[in-house]
Amino acid sequence: MGTRFACVHLSLHFGAERKDFVMKIIMLGAPGAGKGTQAQMIADQYHIPHVSTGDIFRANIKNGTELGMEAKKYMDQGLLVPDELTVKILLDRVAEEDCKEGYLLDGFPRTIPQAEVLDKALTELGDEIDYAINVDVPDENIVKRMSGRRACLSCGSTYHMEHIPPQKEGVCDKCGNELVLRDDDKPETVLNRLEVYHKQTQPLIQFYEEKGVLRTVDGTKPMKEVFDSIVEILEK
Ligand code: AP5
Ligand code: MG
Repeated sequence: MGTRFACVHLSLHFGAERKDFVMKIIMLGAPGAGKGTQAQMIADQYHIPHVSTGDIFRANIKNGTELGMEAKKYMDQGLLVPDELTVKILLDRVAEEDCKEGYLLDGFPRTIPQAEVLDKALTELGDEIDYAINVDVPDENIVKRMSGRRACLSCGSTYHMEHIPPQKEGVCDKCGNELVLRDDDKPETVLNRLEVYHKQTQPLIQFYEEKGVLRTVDGTKPMKEVFDSIVEILEK
């Protein structure tokens, strides 16, 4: 684990003892497995930035940027945005000041080449990923979850009409902006995303297993239970 860089913001509690250290975590899992939900909770608890490439693309689409227009072509079909576009955005983001003390990657890497680029960039800094948390949910559960999801395109918060409804219908609790059904959450697009996941992203499970940092949690459990299992892993 990356305990060699002391820092002040990330504080994990080991019983009464308090330890401060940098932590770099990757969330793996199928679309809709709950990566974003858990990432948000972990980031809030440990005060590390939640870096989601999907949220970055959606913010660019919302703001009508060139990057957003290009990414939308792929996202609307449930396809991955090409590595050339994605890798640079991610590396620029993690080079920012707030990521110096750890970060949590949600939705990146998603292909072996992306993982290799990240690995190389970290190795050059004498650094490495501490944990790749695989949130495991079978395909059968996914389509149902997606139709109930509502997302805030401004701050990236995620809700579920049944499981985590916002306090006021259609309004984000965190920033007050409108909640929407994502364009790529239509059932036919979700099926494409699952297919793409199995082909291009699932091999990352073995990639991180071989590095000895893979940990798998049962994502079909209620959100709080999933979160508790992740905390147990991080605080071991
Ligand atoms: P991205 O935004 O990353 O989407 P995704 O991986 O398809 O995953 P989702 O955000 O849909 O699901 P999630 O696992 O975060 O689940 P959530 O927590 O919301 O990417 C979108 C697109 O951008 C990609 O398809 C691609 O085109 C492009 N892209 C992004 N990164 C890229 C990259 N690196 N390379 C190339 N292209 C890239 O949960 C789902 C729902 O279930 C929610 O409603 C939630 O409330 C509910 N829920 C969560 N946990 C539970 C639980 N335990 N029990 C019951 N309900 C739960
Ligand atoms: Mg997400």
